[in-house]
Amino acid sequence: AAADKGGWSSFMAKEITEQPEAVANTVRGRLVDGHVEIPELTALGDDLLREIDRIVIIACGTASYAGMIGTYAIEQWARVPVEVQLSHEFRYRDPVLSDRTLLISVSQSGETMDTLMAVKYAIERGVTTVSVCNTQSATIPRESDAAVYTHAGPEVAVASTKAFVAQITALYLIGLHLGRVRGTLSGDDARRAAEQLEELPGLLGEAVDTHDQIAQLAHWMADTRSVLFLGRHVGYPTALEGALKLKEIAYIHAEGFAAGELKHGPIALIDHGQPVFVLVPSPRTSPLMHSKVVSNIQEIRARGARVIAIVEKGDTSVLPFADDVIRLPLTDVLFEPLLQVIPLQWFALELSAAKGLDVDQPRNLAKSVTVE
Ligand code: G6P
Repeated sequence: AAADKGGWSSFMAKEITEQPEAVANTVRGRLVDGHVEIPELTALGDDLLREIDRIVIIACGTASYAGMIGTYAIEQWARVPVEVQLSHEFRYRDPVLSDRTLLISVSQSGETMDTLMAVKYAIERGVTTVSVCNTQSATIPRESDAAVYTHAGPEVAVASTKAFVAQITALYLIGLHLGRVRGTLSGDDARRAAEQLEELPGLLGEAVDTHDQIAQLAHWMADTRSVLFLGRHVGYPTALEGALKLKEIAYIHAEGFAAGELKHGPIALIDHGQPVFVLVPSPRTSPLMHSKVVSNIQEIRARGARVIAIVEKGDTSVLPFADDVIRLPLTDVLFEPLLQVIPLQWFALELSAAKGLDVDQPRNLAKSVTVE
């Protein structure tokens, strides 16, 4: 019913606007006196967390991109190798697992059959399992040794939005918890991350406010048949997520690339008028990456691309090369995806709406895939 959408035209629109609250709810109760403490992880025993020598994140779809983003933060803070495997690929490769492996599953519904089967496979091999899940008492968190709920509230639209930012947040909290217990996280980094987590809801609110600008852009681009997304570092999985959103709800061919990979193939796709969203890292915190991405923009622009640059406020370096500039508030590099994904979500939604499609119920897709 329209009432359930809180006045919005779709559940997806409502859920995009709920992201500041979703992230605040994920953090709530887990940040105490400037340090992260997740009681569900404490219950596993600090010795176990200290002895972990490898983390495997398993997930499907949007949750796998949250997982990819999580790898950068967890490795940085907990100094342990982290990789993401798609749930449905995991057990077919005869994965190398031991009692020092930690398996973290990420699933909004907690019922995705591929992910559940991967978790069971790991449990049978004596691996410790942690579930990052949005649905209280779903099957995956019940089967796992520990459940870290995201508390983003029910997500109705098939295309995931608020669950995604909450999943990234939960993975970051896990990284900060591990870093503290393992002694790999400096006091300064812990304080800085805690500050960022506290500021995040306000910053997400500003990112939500990009709606009108993006709606205008989508309106002009309603006939677009293909869109590319470029990012580096955590911007790369964010680019993949931006592309997935467009495929899911606007039925447009879209691809995300690591910006550095451009010259190894994808640049051949660039033709006159090809729209490319570029996620530009902050020049303050990532000057080297920033300059590389600005060169990538110049390269595609020289080949006729229509560049839509998503930048931090105050970054004027791309102005000469971008057709559109979307400005987001300042944050540290690891937190950029949480802000950058929001205009990408709006873009997919508005393009879907401009094409007259059902934003919440895309063809051929289910909210939760309970078959293998
Ligand atoms: C389905 C949905 C996606 C979702 C994926 C994983 O394919 O359409 O939006 O990302 O499942 O779902 P989960 O509930 O495990 O996060």
